[in-house]
Amino acid sequence: MAVRSHYCGELRESQVGEEVAVCGWVHRRRDHGGVIFLDLRDREGILQVVIDPDTPDSFASAERVRSEFVIRAVGKIRARPAGTENPAMPTGAVELLVQRLEILNESETPPIPVDEHAEAGEDVRLRYRYLDLRRPAMSERLRLRSRLASTVRNHLEAQGFLEIETPLLTRATPEGARDYLVPSRTHPGRFFALPQSPQLFKQMLMMAGADRYYQIARCFRDEDLRADRQPEFTQIDVELSFVDEEDVMTAMEALIRHVFSILIGVELGAFPRMSHAEALRRYGVDKPDLRVGLELVDLAELFRDVDFKVFREPARSADCRVAALCVPGGAALSRKQIDSYTDFVRDRGAGGLAWIKVADPASGREGLQSPIVKFIDDATIRAVLEATAAQSGDILFFGADQAATVNEALGGLRLQVAQDLGLVEDRWAPLWVVDFPMFEHASDGSLTSLHHPFTAPSCSVEQLRADPPGALSRAYDLVLNGVELGGGSIRIADPAMQQAVFDVLGIGAEEARSKFGFLLSALQYGCPPHGGIAFGFDRLAMLLCGASSIRDVIAFPKTQSASCPLTEAPGLAASAQLRELHLRPQSTAG
Ligand code: AMO
Ligand code: AMP
Repeated sequence: MAVRSHYCGELRESQVGEEVAVCGWVHRRRDHGGVIFLDLRDREGILQVVIDPDTPDSFASAERVRSEFVIRAVGKIRARPAGTENPAMPTGAVELLVQRLEILNESETPPIPVDEHAEAGEDVRLRYRYLDLRRPAMSERLRLRSRLASTVRNHLEAQGFLEIETPLLTRATPEGARDYLVPSRTHPGRFFALPQSPQLFKQMLMMAGADRYYQIARCFRDEDLRADRQPEFTQIDVELSFVDEEDVMTAMEALIRHVFSILIGVELGAFPRMSHAEALRRYGVDKPDLRVGLELVDLAELFRDVDFKVFREPARSADCRVAALCVPGGAALSRKQIDSYTDFVRDRGAGGLAWIKVADPASGREGLQSPIVKFIDDATIRAVLEATAAQSGDILFFGADQAATVNEALGGLRLQVAQDLGLVEDRWAPLWVVDFPMFEHASDGSLTSLHHPFTAPSCSVEQLRADPPGALSRAYDLVLNGVELGGGSIRIADPAMQQAVFDVLGIGAEEARSKFGFLLSALQYGCPPHGGIAFGFDRLAMLLCGASSIRDVIAFPKTQSASCPLTEAPGLAASAQLRELHLRPQSTAG
């Protein structure tokens, strides 16, 4: 008999009477007087294994096993005695009556219980990731991730896309983060950069005639980490030739629909579109979660002449925004809850959080409770209640500040309050965000690309040069339930336009040649119109399995501080190795 004939998790009533050999880890052991029960676990599930004192050698072994021992059990599958079936387990109708039990390996007491219900701290989970991944919920996620990759590949291959690998040792690819650098031994003082994305290579593949490319590509970005960001992550990277934005969006919508249908049986509804400006105006963010109905309402017009300075000054300034968020039922919030929301917006840079509780909108000032209504005249109060359509029982929250601060504060508050009050609808809400500006102002006032410098504008070279901040791009982002799932654009295919964009970004001709000379040169030899997109593969996996962090769908993720508790990477290097790389050691491994 083979070492193993079946997975534990696949045995069913149809195998009753069969002789099988199963292997796995001891999930739990129960000693029922004369009989020992083991829950034996492998990748596919858990099987109940019964050891009777009639098999004395096996029984002696079974007495010795502890949690996480690795064993092999040979015996016959039988139906569980009536009344002892466990309908909660897929294998719950059967059990294995052991003829021979072998201990293949022992285990120390594990530092984290592999039990489903035990929650350990993330640091311990990552340090002992191989144990953490034994938990059925985690192995289920790895399996879904694998199926996601094959589903994407099958779909794209069927649509005529070629999977083409691009280099990991390369030059800096500007996606707005810091680079991970790799020193070159053979070229003293020179460095490779790990790619932030395959952007330039996929564009050159279009110039090479590849026509339709995809890659499940590893990307590297040294940036501040969050629940949905890792320093190395995976993209579904796609590029197509002879297309416009409609073609790309249609093809990609089909891909995402297919993935949801195949993997979790969900048929996604419409993919509406919204301009970037509208998203900011209504939701305060560029990736609105449409499962939340609450919207921001602009009120600057009403507050230009009020006495209340906190609102009047921003209402009169072009860079500022005065907006309200009306929360149905929010009048029931306690003072303490309002204070915690005030801290929430302060953490996002806001000066404070003015509010009005509405008991009865019809009776004006008398029907309100608020620290600020005493500073506001009756007519304005009436106009505010009307503009926000506030009903009795609602609360109005106000933001008055630099527009970006109000958006950050009220946009975030909108989601937080909706979560706290159960106002998030239970559905999938995809959205294409389009008509992004080409550029945004950096903190030093200079212009930077909102996407990347190879994104085509929707205007001419002349218009772009005349009004860079006003130029819109041919970019599109796919947002799902408030998560930025992917982003892409139609690219610049014209060397003059590429030069104009570099000029706006303050990248001089010399710098452009030294950093992107290869691309500029390729543009001169017959570039097809092309465009594409990249999806965050980890984010897609996270959404599909309902996880709250991409760390839960990556086998060996990094911590918030971009280190690996399991391997203790990054590590020190030996001084001899550093010398070879022409680096001066600061501290070394000796
Ligand atoms: P962008 O920078 O928008 O575009 O990245 C595309 C998608 O990749 C995911 N993503 C990340 N996921 C996890 N951790 C990170 N640190 C991280 N950074 C990005 C997001 C994002 O939407 N070359 C362009 C694409 C193109 O224009 O075709 C690019 O990389 O889901
Ligand atoms: P103050 O006059 O600073 O005591 O503020 C009066 C009310 O306005 C308080 O409830 C503050 O939380 C609120 N507030 C202060 N600054 C802002 C702001 N920039 N946006 C919204 N509300 C604010």
